[in-house]
Amino acid sequence: MDDRVIIFDTTLRDGEQAPGFNMNLEEKLRMAEQLERLKVDVIEAGFPIASDGDFLAVREVAKRTKSCVVAGLCRTKKLDIDRAWAALQHAKSPRIHTFIATSDIHLKHKLRKSKAEALADAVWAVKYAKERCQDVEFSAEDATRSDPEYLVEIFSAVIDAGATVINVPDTVGYSLPWEFGELIEMLIDKVDGMDKTVLSVHCHDDLGHSVSNSIVAVNHGARQIECTVNGIGERAGNAALEEVVMTMRTRSRAFSCDTQVRATELYATSQLLTDITHVPAQPNKSIVGANAFAHEAGIHQDGVLKNALTYEIMTPESVGVPGNKLVLGKHSGRNALNARVRELGYTLDKEGLAKVYEEFTNLADAKKVVSDADLAAIVKRAIAAETATVDKELQIQ
Ligand code: KIV
Ligand code: ZN
Repeated sequence: MDDRVIIFDTTLRDGEQAPGFNMNLEEKLRMAEQLERLKVDVIEAGFPIASDGDFLAVREVAKRTKSCVVAGLCRTKKLDIDRAWAALQHAKSPRIHTFIATSDIHLKHKLRKSKAEALADAVWAVKYAKERCQDVEFSAEDATRSDPEYLVEIFSAVIDAGATVINVPDTVGYSLPWEFGELIEMLIDKVDGMDKTVLSVHCHDDLGHSVSNSIVAVNHGARQIECTVNGIGERAGNAALEEVVMTMRTRSRAFSCDTQVRATELYATSQLLTDITHVPAQPNKSIVGANAFAHEAGIHQDGVLKNALTYEIMTPESVGVPGNKLVLGKHSGRNALNARVRELGYTLDKEGLAKVYEEFTNLADAKKVVSDADLAAIVKRAIAAETATVDKELQIQ
């Protein structure tokens, strides 16, 4: 591994902004503690100017977090930066994250500013932030729909003003992976001062490419990925932290770099977010979904029982999932059934298994999933019937 990719977690900011994911102070602190355990590099704890709640959360996360950088978001306005710094100043490693939109559509309709005015605001904000905090990140909102030459100009100017990280957000999830890769490569080539700055990416999932875009960016030189637990975030969400991390871990030979994330904490982190927000990841969600390591088809179950590598590219244990789960349903085969029967503490001979299998498939036709309790009842009935037959045979003799 050549070098490290910085994981910037924005679950508490971009993630929490999404409808249904509000967290109170105590919940944010629990989440931040778990993110530290997970070993992310940066926790973006909130947008301090947005509300008193956000301010308090950033301040408390900043005070308690010891091994991660704590970032607070702000526009390029004095009031925002002052508020962010008031919240962050007690952090062991604080970062002010300031942003302004750079696309023509945002400049014209949202900000009603010229490119020159936005550039002047960005440079002013970075200088003002830098007088307070050594670590300053600048984001060009809607970068992927911005004029690439303007991006080069504004990024070069903010680096000159003291930015330590420049961030390229695909704010509306519009970019295609190869376009995003080319943009990152072009920026690394053309922006002045890139050698003393980290290039970061922040991808949204409106077209479902947020993780691919982030990963491609890494292969073109990006060294910070902004992402969230379970991929939560504005609209369709952000790049999912667990997918980014496990892509680099599972396909390590395809990368010259890795993250320092403790992957065995991924599942616990996802579960904690679900506990707090009451919004579970969808069952088929990569890495942390309920079905991510569940096998129902008979052929798959048979393969997994013989060697898990047949249908699993990573072990459940490597991401902290308690163990693979063979779901018993109508597609299940005899091997899987027998394995579960043995796990339940019963041993069946060939005939007994055949009888249980028949009853099991009848039930599975009627019920989507056959539970352990259903199966135990079938097995007990089969054993009782077998014992009765043997008794009867003995009486006849
Ligand atoms: O999506 C976005 O552009 C953002 C920035 C504020 C980084 O969240
Ligand atoms: Zn965002």
